[in-house]
Amino acid sequence: MRILITGRQGQVVQALVQRGAQTGFDIKTIGRPEMDMANPGTVLPAMRAAIAAFQPQLVVNAAAYTAVDQAEDEPETAFAINAHSAGEVARAAADAGLPMIQISTDYVFDGTKDGPYLETDTPNPQSVYGASKLEGERLVAAGNAQHLIFRTAWVYSPYGKDFVKTMLRLAETRDEVSVVADQIGNPTSAYDIADGIIAAAKKFEQDPANMPWGTFHLAGPEAMSWAEFATRTFADSAAKGGPAAKVKPVSTADYPTKAKRPANSRLDSSRFALAFGWQAVASEEGLKAVIAAVMAADARQNTGTR
Ligand SMILES: NC(=O)c1ccc[n+]([C@@H]2O[C@H](COP(=O)([O-])OP(=O)(O)OC[C@H]3O[C@@H](n4cnc5c(N)ncnc54)[C@H](OP(=O)(O)O)[C@@H]3O)[C@@H](O)[C@H]2O)c1
Repeated sequence: MRILITGRQGQVVQALVQRGAQTGFDIKTIGRPEMDMANPGTVLPAMRAAIAAFQPQLVVNAAAYTAVDQAEDEPETAFAINAHSAGEVARAAADAGLPMIQISTDYVFDGTKDGPYLETDTPNPQSVYGASKLEGERLVAAGNAQHLIFRTAWVYSPYGKDFVKTMLRLAETRDEVSVVADQIGNPTSAYDIADGIIAAAKKFEQDPANMPWGTFHLAGPEAMSWAEFATRTFADSAAKGGPAAKVKPVSTADYPTKAKRPANSRLDSSRFALAFGWQAVASEEGLKAVIAAVMAADARQNTGTR
């Protein structure tokens, strides 16, 4: 099956490219420079050309403006990329009769619920990033009836910037790291998101007439605080002889950020499991795989091999 995915070096993009190579899916990326989503006018022509050349059976929009704090200062750019361009990607797919998967976020919720969020809960974003992603969901749904919106959370991977690598880098120079302990969410391996996309693609391939279009939560199976996530990261790194530091739990009030983040953004992903017969691997396993890949990449860099 051929899948066209937006973005080039993003965590989810690279994870899907890798999983595609392992599972026989043909994945092609589209992004800058020919399609700069900060300029939504570039999206339709670039998407049309890529669809005509590659003839995909599915389009995935994984490109996004993900700098949550910076988005507070650049709302126009965040909305251009996360909302208007997402809508254009959906339109381009719909024009070609293709289904589309949009990746969205736990930050569409305000965090006040006492329990994991379901797809039926009402979003109420507290940040520009969250609002732009919610508007993206709306425009994708309006632009393409054959849409799947997969909300994920706290993405980590061996690629690009993420919490796990940030912690490992900090531990190289510090004995103790202060980490927020009063925000709870589901850390999600980018490989799990890629595998979830592939599970949905397989279902579409086998039974397109019975696809459960709509919104699904697709996140790691275990909820924890950032401090707990850091503690587990260091434990696993130490077990492999990698960097580790002591975690000092702090509160959100001690660590002010520009964007307001939900205190509870736990996602219940059971609807996804029921619909697509797939669920994310245990957190321990996901983290182990990613830390091993990060350490292997570091070792290759240190020895100058590729
Ligand atoms: N990271 C998280 O913790 C998190 C949490 C919840 C939901 N999500 C959602 O999950 C999805 C994937 O996130 P991620 O962590 O993989 O993101 P990421 O690593 O930050 O990558 C962002 C991707 O978007 C592309 N992009 C950014 N600006 C662009 C522009 N102007 N034109 C074209 N492409 C542009 C980047 O292109 P280049 O390759 O050219 O740099 C990159 O491929 C996003 O929808 C995000 O909102 C992420």
